[in-house]
Amino acid sequence: MILKRAALIAGVLILASAGAATASTGADRRLIVGGTLASTSEAPWAIALTNSNSSKQSSRWCGATLVRADKIITAAHCMTKPADSYTAIQGRADLLDDETGRTSAISRIWIHPDYTNNRNDFAVLTLAQPFTGVPTLKLETDPKADRKGVVPTVYGWGDTEDTGPADTLQKAAVPDLGDSTCLADKGYVGNGYTAATNICAGYLEGGRDACQGDSGGPLVLNGRLLGTVSWGRGCADRGYPGVYAEIAPAAPILRTQLDR
Ligand code: ARG
Repeated sequence: MILKRAALIAGVLILASAGAATASTGADRRLIVGGTLASTSEAPWAIALTNSNSSKQSSRWCGATLVRADKIITAAHCMTKPADSYTAIQGRADLLDDETGRTSAISRIWIHPDYTNNRNDFAVLTLAQPFTGVPTLKLETDPKADRKGVVPTVYGWGDTEDTGPADTLQKAAVPDLGDSTCLADKGYVGNGYTAATNICAGYLEGGRDACQGDSGGPLVLNGRLLGTVSWGRGCADRGYPGVYAEIAPAAPILRTQLDR
């Protein structure tokens, strides 16, 4: 994750769907500060969602968060393939190390009914083989938890663009910039950014961010799931923070899926 990205066509919003190749037409223009390695013991609830249609050797596709022994929350936009093509992996920092960690097939997929225009980018997946005994993350239920100045951490196995090892769990602290920062960008508003359902986090100077393949993964604050990786223009580009789907307003409907 966490990365740096080549200059993209100006004005083009990259909402890359998970695993899909991303437009990368420009030349690299900045050295990046990536994330740092994270261990699966500090983030046992961080789940890698792989897919057999992935173009990557590791099959990586998206991130997710374990919120019940048999339930993970990920991004709705990650769910473009048949259910039987996905595998959830827990406890494997290096996705090429298939001796480590646990895996499960996905037995059920629920997409947020109001997933539209990039809003409510949530899916709840049921694990065929629950990750019993693994610590789960609680949902943040207070909409005020998303406020400028707090510094949540994002986790993922996604693109690093050479700022770190590929296919390996990384984390990055990304300051909450407040909704006004993303609302100030017409492109972001046009792309669906709303104060009530999104979190705007990262660095306006660029250099540290989530990226393709991190989608659906956890944004964590005070031991709770504050948001999930959703989209951004490029990755870690100056002036373009990361956009996260905000858990609190969706918590009631997510709960109806977790406790069933
Ligand atoms: N949509 C991307 C994915 O599918 C995640 C994009 C996050 N981008 C960002 N700049 N924070 O993995």
